[in-house]
Amino acid sequence: MIELKSLSRRYRSDEIETTALHDVSLTIRQGEFVAIMGPSGCGKSTLLNILGTIDRPTEGRYLFDGEDLTARSEAALAQHRAQRLGFIFQSFNLVDDLTIAENIELGLLYRKGRQGSRRALVEAAMDRVGVGHRARHFPHQLSGGQQQRAAIARAIVGEPSLILADEPTGNLDTENGAQVMEILKGLNAAGATIVMVTHSPSHADQAGRRIDILDGRLVASVAQAI
Ligand SMILES: Nc1ncnc2c1ncn2[C@@H]1O[C@H](COP(=O)(O)OP(=O)(O)O)[C@@H](O)[C@H]1O
Ligand SMILES: [Mg+2]
Repeated sequence: MIELKSLSRRYRSDEIETTALHDVSLTIRQGEFVAIMGPSGCGKSTLLNILGTIDRPTEGRYLFDGEDLTARSEAALAQHRAQRLGFIFQSFNLVDDLTIAENIELGLLYRKGRQGSRRALVEAAMDRVGVGHRARHFPHQLSGGQQQRAAIARAIVGEPSLILADEPTGNLDTENGAQVMEILKGLNAAGATIVMVTHSPSHADQAGRRIDILDGRLVASVAQAI
């Protein structure tokens, strides 16, 4: 599904150049659940952002289902994201003044489809993560765990083939973190490919493969028994 070939990402300011990713080559097959680990600042979010096409590599190629995304226009990438990708963040990123149902519907914003079917998709996504009874509440009325589950519903409402999660359990306590992991594993079992950045070794252990990054380089990629 994903093939990264000698990917690098450099940030340049007036004087300083930072290499966030250095010569990363990586293949991720459809249906995999990959955990990415590494110390703060090693390039994990940069890698996830490039996989999500919200950032572009400075060098190298990114193939998705055999198609080179590095050459495509912003409009084409926006369509790609809307049709195929779902994003989950550490800090939930819900919109404060929209209800939970409205927040989840944002996940369908750039997708085609009739109003009636959109409502059914939103309801199915809410039920899947257990926030259906909070549809008309606002984010601040929910616990952190509920907010993250609503954010997962927003990510999956369009039935993406690839889910990208950047420290999805980083702001949650043990129990809520475990719930999020169960939801992600269920989505993976149902066919979604998942790439998750985490600092939690026990959460990384639940993925089918673990990738370690150090100073922008991929230093290990190990299949795990799950
Ligand atoms: N927009 C940016 N401009 C300049 N440097 C950046 C930018 N984003 C990230 N970096 C740098 O790239 C490196 C990797 O960052 P990041 O991918 O966020 O790491 P991680 O997610 O592993 O903590 C860090 O040195 C960071 O300071
Ligand atoms: Mg990060």
